Amino acid sequence: MKTVSQYAQMIEASISALPLEKQPTGLYSPIHYALEAGGKRLRPVLTLSVSDALGCNPEKAINQAIGIEMFHNFTLLHDDVMDKADVRRGRPTVHRKYSESTAILSGDAMLTLAGSLIMKECPDCKLRTVLDLFNKTAIEIYEGQQYDMDFETRSDVTTEEYLEMIRLKTSVLLGCSCAMGAIIADADDKTITSFYSFGEKLGLSFQLKDDWLDTYGNPETFGKAIGGDIANEKKTWLLITAMAEDRSGVLSEVIGKNIAADQKIDKVRGVYDSLNLSERCRELEERFAKDAIDSLNTVNMSMEAKEYFTNLALNSLKRTK
Ligand code: IPE
Ligand code: IPE
Ligand code: MG
Ligand code: MG
Ligand code: MG
Repeated sequence: MKTVSQYAQMIEASISALPLEKQPTGLYSPIHYALEAGGKRLRPVLTLSVSDALGCNPEKAINQAIGIEMFHNFTLLHDDVMDKADVRRGRPTVHRKYSESTAILSGDAMLTLAGSLIMKECPDCKLRTVLDLFNKTAIEIYEGQQYDMDFETRSDVTTEEYLEMIRLKTSVLLGCSCAMGAIIADADDKTITSFYSFGEKLGLSFQLKDDWLDTYGNPETFGKAIGGDIANEKKTWLLITAMAEDRSGVLSEVIGKNIAADQKIDKVRGVYDSLNLSERCRELEERFAKDAIDSLNTVNMSMEAKEYFTNLALNSLKRTK
């Protein structure tokens, strides 16, 4: 096994080699802008490392890996329009730097480029499995994103509904990234399913942490504005739990009310603190990270590979960006 940063370097090299210096620049330069900003490259790192763990040269999965990263970045362009987000990876979001129309159209192009990369140099015998997985995942993400928006204006969202929403919008792509690596490595169905489940459980922990960072993170390191979820009244685990447990009456004065964002953020965070939600959210993140690790119990791979995935899940609990 290599290290996470070594896999990430392979991904940077492949992304840099993509032919994006093309005309019209209005379409391609925002794509370049989005991809050059880096990010953690978690999804393609998963694809390459799963292949490697199963004895397949990770280079064999590189196109599928960067196809998934391209797809992820496409979802971010549209997500930032939907979430009215101004900052990502410490820089203006595409719709702020260029325009909303650009975020839509360059995003569309990224989705198509992602589909081509997923197919590129994929052995014919695996093409159907790979494309079915990719398309199924994409549709689930759109479903999750729709629930995410629907929930903004609902006040009766349950924790179960929240968990299903984040499974769809976030976890399935991590599951797909892992399963993709296993498919390229010629793994049996049981191994593919175990790795999918690892990614899926990791994704739940990952989105809970993303929501936690949206309230408690440092904007410098997180690279996004803090408080956007509260301003948009996103039904995160934090807000759902606060709405169920708040006895101070503060939440009912601000949620669903047209008040200044900073005030809303301050008041809601105050309620979270009074209910110790920061700590409780972290416990839940931990539970899902442990579930992820358990998913790999029966997979046949080296101790080194098992440790790699265990550390990856545990380190994701400590992330600050
Ligand atoms: C952001 O994903 C969207 C979520 C699913 C939370 P990442 O946190 O992986 O974003 P980058 O790619 O590292 O910037
Ligand atoms: C993102 O959820 C999920 C997808 C992009 C599909 P968020 O809206 O929480 O992601 P960030 O915080 O903007 O990265
Ligand atoms: Mg969103
Ligand atoms: Mg968002
Ligand atoms: Mg978020």
